[in-house]
Amino acid sequence: MNPTTIRKDFPVLDDETLVYLDTAASSLKPRQVLDAMDEYYQKYGVNVHRGVYNLSYVATTKYEDARTTVSNFINAAFNEVVFTRGASSALNLVASSYGLNNVKAGDEIIVSELEHHSQVLPWQNVSRITGAKLIYVPLDEDGRITVDNFRSVLSDKTKVVALNYVSNVMGYVAPIKDIIRLAHEVGAIVSVDAAQAAPHMAIDVKDLDCDFLAFSGHKMCGPTGIGVLYGKRHLLEAMPPIEFGGDMNDNVDKFDASWKEAPYKFETGTPPIAEAIGLGRAIDYLQGIGLDAIHEHEVELRDYTVKRMKAMADIELYNPNAETGIISFNIIGVHPHDAITYFDGDNVCMRAGHHCAQLVVKWLDVPATLRASFYLYNTKEDCDKFLATLERAIAFFREVGF
Ligand code: ALA
Repeated sequence: MNPTTIRKDFPVLDDETLVYLDTAASSLKPRQVLDAMDEYYQKYGVNVHRGVYNLSYVATTKYEDARTTVSNFINAAFNEVVFTRGASSALNLVASSYGLNNVKAGDEIIVSELEHHSQVLPWQNVSRITGAKLIYVPLDEDGRITVDNFRSVLSDKTKVVALNYVSNVMGYVAPIKDIIRLAHEVGAIVSVDAAQAAPHMAIDVKDLDCDFLAFSGHKMCGPTGIGVLYGKRHLLEAMPPIEFGGDMNDNVDKFDASWKEAPYKFETGTPPIAEAIGLGRAIDYLQGIGLDAIHEHEVELRDYTVKRMKAMADIELYNPNAETGIISFNIIGVHPHDAITYFDGDNVCMRAGHHCAQLVVKWLDVPATLRASFYLYNTKEDCDKFLATLERAIAFFREVGF
């Protein structure tokens, strides 16, 4: 793959001074995706599933074609793909529908300190309501979830395992396939937060054998406002909807109603039509380049950058051996929010803070971290500009006094 050619697809990168290293928060969007969404609004921007006229058939077909694209992307069946507002809504749907109806007092739910708030808070809620116990997988000394540590908290009381595939702070890839196999041996289900995995590596839900898996459109070249929940067919069929309204219902009587089959019973109201079409186009775009090539490229940029950072004084690197394109670090003695202002002055975009994952930042025992994250449009020149700014920032803060 050629990132220099790829960059031309991204209008935001027309600003050649921009160094965009915040893909873990949200990726940039290519023209192909913007055009597909624009075409919906310009040429057939009407509702789906309702209109008995040609334009509505066109909109419905494009919307459902996007579902086919998503299902092929993760090797799921068509009706195992629910469109949601994002990964957070998808993970909440699992907890509020599956969790509240299947978990009871005395059961155990396994999570970890490496989770994004969207994976841990919905299960805190289930635990509060049901009396089930939240159990944390102890992280190893690098902050990883290991199979042995997972085994140490797994028991026949475990009903749900809710873990990330790739950590949004540490960039570690969890041994999720082994975890799923072990969880199934005790009869637990596994809900996987794949928000930082789906944009960067090929996912096969059948091979993983996960029960649920969630990701967002906007971190993978697609639009905001759309995400995906994959669920095994028999689980989705048994789960009640958690939102009620138009299009999700079948028969409605005065005091009762029945629901459509999954996925439609979970998609109430007018769905994110343009967003689904945009997500489908984003997946085509990423597959056209190849997920393996994208992953390899990110790791190459990361390794190149980390090697240079390791040679610098005054840097604390939190994940020097991660397998994905995420670098979490601090300039020793400098609050990350001060440091990030310096980077912004050079038009280098990164994230500083707890990254919606306070537990891991607390585990690191720091107030916050800086985070650089790479994607297919980043180049070695981006790394060099970032490193040059970093060197200047260190010199600056050293001069003004840490
Ligand atoms: N969850 C996103 C991040 O990690 C917003 O930054």
